[in-house]
Amino acid sequence: MTKVGWESPSNIAIIKYWGKHGRQLPNNPSVSFTLNAAATRTFVAWSDENKYGRIDLTFTFENKENLAFAARIEKFLDNIADEYFPFLKEISLNIESSNSFPHSSGIASSASGMSALAMCLCEIEQSITGYKTAPNEFIQKASIVARLGSGSACRSVHPEMGLWGFHPDIASSSDDFAIGISHLIHPVFKTFHDDILIISANEKSVSSTAGHKLMVGNPYANARYQQANQQIISLMEALKVGDIITFGKIAESEALTLHALMMSSDPYYILMEEASLTIIRKIKNFRLDTGIPIFFTLDAGPNIHVLYPDEYAGEVRSFILSELIVHCFEGRVIYDQIGLGPKKIL
Ligand code: DP6
Repeated sequence: MTKVGWESPSNIAIIKYWGKHGRQLPNNPSVSFTLNAAATRTFVAWSDENKYGRIDLTFTFENKENLAFAARIEKFLDNIADEYFPFLKEISLNIESSNSFPHSSGIASSASGMSALAMCLCEIEQSITGYKTAPNEFIQKASIVARLGSGSACRSVHPEMGLWGFHPDIASSSDDFAIGISHLIHPVFKTFHDDILIISANEKSVSSTAGHKLMVGNPYANARYQQANQQIISLMEALKVGDIITFGKIAESEALTLHALMMSSDPYYILMEEASLTIIRKIKNFRLDTGIPIFFTLDAGPNIHVLYPDEYAGEVRSFILSELIVHCFEGRVIYDQIGLGPKKIL
C-alpha cells in the first residue's frame, strides 16, 4: 500500500455562510480565519486491488472503527469519484483520521476533516496519474473537493484567511472554491488570536446541513444575503487597513445575525446557552472598561470564540482565567490563533 498524510485546520467564519443551494453552493460569500491548533490529521493508504468497481473503504477515527463517519465518507467519495477522481473506483482505501481537539468539544470537525481528506485525494491523484499540477491548481481543486464534502471546509485550504463565494466587487471570487486573501490583510490580523471557550460538549442539536435548509422559508433570508454582501466589502476594507474596531463590530454582528436567523426559523433553534450570553456580556463590558479590542464570534452552537490582537494576549489570558473560564464546560478552553493552513505530514 502507498500512503499519504495531511493535517488541515478548522476555520472560524467572520462573515458567515448560512444558506446554500444546488451542489453545495453558498447563498452569500463568507470569510474566515484559518486556525492553527484545532486540526485534523488524516492518512490515506491505497492499493490497486479493488474487485468491486465501487468505493472500497475502511475508515478508523482515533484508532477505532467509526461506522457513521465511514458511511458519510463513502457517500462523499462516491459522489465525487466520476467527476473528479475516476481512479477512486479502481483502488481500495484505508483512511485513518484523528483530531487535535477533543471530539466531544462541540467544535465543528467537518471543515478540518474534509479539507484534510481533500488534500490527500489531490495528492493521490498526482501520484496515480503522474501529472503534477501547479501549486495553485492543486489548492483550487482541493478547495472544490473539500466544498463538496462540507461547504466551510473549502476555506481551510488557505493560509491565514479564506474567502468563499462570488461577489461582483471581489476579484477571482467564486462559488465553486475559496480563494486565499492573506495578501489583502494588514499584518495586525496575521497574529490574531481566537480562543475557543467550550460551553457544551454535546452533539449539535441541529446539523449545519439541516440548519442551511431552514433558510428556505426564513422571512429574513433575502435581507440577510444582502447584509452579508455589504458587510463583506466593509470587512475587506477593515482587513486591508488594519481597522480592528470595524472588524470586531462586523464579527459580532455576523455571529448574532446567525443566531437570530436560527431563532427566526421554523422550527426555531436556540443554540446559545445561558453561559454563552453571560460571556458575551462580560466580553463587551471588558472592552468598554479597558479599551482593549476584544470581540466574540460563534458558530452554529453555544461555544464562544474570543478574537483579539496578539498585543493584548497577556491581559486577555488573565481575563479569561479570572472571569470566563468558570462558565466553560469542565473549564475547557482551546487557545488558538490564525494559522498557516494544511501541512503535509507524510
Ligand atoms: C455556521 O460548512 O458545516 O459554521 O456545507 O452543510 O457541511 P455544510 O455546512 P457547514 O456550515 C458552516 C456554517 C457556519 C458558518 C461558516 O462556517 O461559514
